[in-house]
Amino acid sequence: MTAPDPSLFGEIDPPQRLLMGPGPVNAHPRVLRAMSADLLGQFDPEMTGYMNQVMALYRPIFGTQNRWTMLVDGTARAGIEAALVSMVAPGDRVLVVNFGRFGLLLQEILGRIGAVIETVDAPWGEVVPMDAIAAAIERTGPKLVACVHGDTSTTMAQPLDGLGALCRKTGALSYVDATATIGGMEIAADRWGVDIVTGGLQKCLGGPSGSAPITISDRAADHIFNRRHVEAGIRRDDIGDGAGPRIGSNYFDLAMVMDYWSEKRLNHHTEATSMLYAARECARIMLGEGPEARYARHAAAGRAMTAGLRAMGLTVFGDDAHRMTNVTGVFIPGGVDGERVRTMMREAFEIEIGTAFGPLQGRIWRIGAMGYNAMKHKVLITLGALEACLRREGFALPAGEGVAAAMEAWDA
Ligand SMILES: Cc1ncc(COP(=O)(O)O)c(C=O)c1O
Repeated sequence: MTAPDPSLFGEIDPPQRLLMGPGPVNAHPRVLRAMSADLLGQFDPEMTGYMNQVMALYRPIFGTQNRWTMLVDGTARAGIEAALVSMVAPGDRVLVVNFGRFGLLLQEILGRIGAVIETVDAPWGEVVPMDAIAAAIERTGPKLVACVHGDTSTTMAQPLDGLGALCRKTGALSYVDATATIGGMEIAADRWGVDIVTGGLQKCLGGPSGSAPITISDRAADHIFNRRHVEAGIRRDDIGDGAGPRIGSNYFDLAMVMDYWSEKRLNHHTEATSMLYAARECARIMLGEGPEARYARHAAAGRAMTAGLRAMGLTVFGDDAHRMTNVTGVFIPGGVDGERVRTMMREAFEIEIGTAFGPLQGRIWRIGAMGYNAMKHKVLITLGALEACLRREGFALPAGEGVAAAMEAWDA
């Protein structure tokens, strides 16, 4: 046997990178500290007490009174998949509001479920007008309308006021993926009138990826409980099956997940304790700051980033009226090698900025300022570093203008 590589026994000691891409971002130090707290058994009263606190803490973050507000264990797409597989049965018609990569992800997941998929689309860099959504609902008569709030692939935020009312008029349920905006832009599940909203920690909530907050209206919960099918080994007399079709996933069966988070405490999965601590701390930090102040901080960061990039002579991507505040797309100038600049940003400045997908790959960078990183000095440092890297690449730009414009815009 050959001797193991001694580096395998070294402690993890990652470089101190400043993550200014579309997420993940650096976690708030309080979140990292909370994650190192001691573990508990899953039915320990301290643990179930923390679970109940998480339910209470996430209601204001989702802008809801929904009883069923909790966590799905897994990255943000675990929340998406749980919502869709629990609401949609094979053959159900679903309308997807599609304006980027994550609208395509909704279709991908729905395709695997066996849904009949209809779409109402906008080109990348725009959002879908509400009257187009209304017409598509009329035309297709869906059981569910699924939509992304902020699509990080295009940096656009879809307006959602009025969506729930349109859906309820025809009896459709509604779902929103708010992974990229939760904690940074207002999520108003009750005012939007939508049935399920899901998120993730690793963007504006300033935590690590691995937990997906979710909120579920009573109407959607009824629909899901009607599909309840408790797994054989944990059946109990007080939890009966519903008459609807069995949910096509065990792990993502929201009926069993809700029974676990309720006073029934059904033994479904083992709640990811350290991630629950992280989610709880993310919420406490956000509510301590105050949602309005937090949204204003993200808006200032987005304003400063956009102004700074423009003052450098760069062209910002997408429709100004519907820009997400926490991530900005910017065209890679002609003659500049986008990947070389990203590498230089990382190697010379320890700063990560994002690449892009699909039709935008190689055309734009995506620069984020969210959660713990939506701070003035981090935006200014990023712009200063980008200016230096672009100069190195031979791109002529006005010296110092980007940082100066960003400082001014932050306070505007
Ligand atoms: C809008 C949106 N939805 C879903 C996801 C997927 O999240 P995760 O990678 O945590 O599964 C992302 C991640 O970038 C996202 O931006």
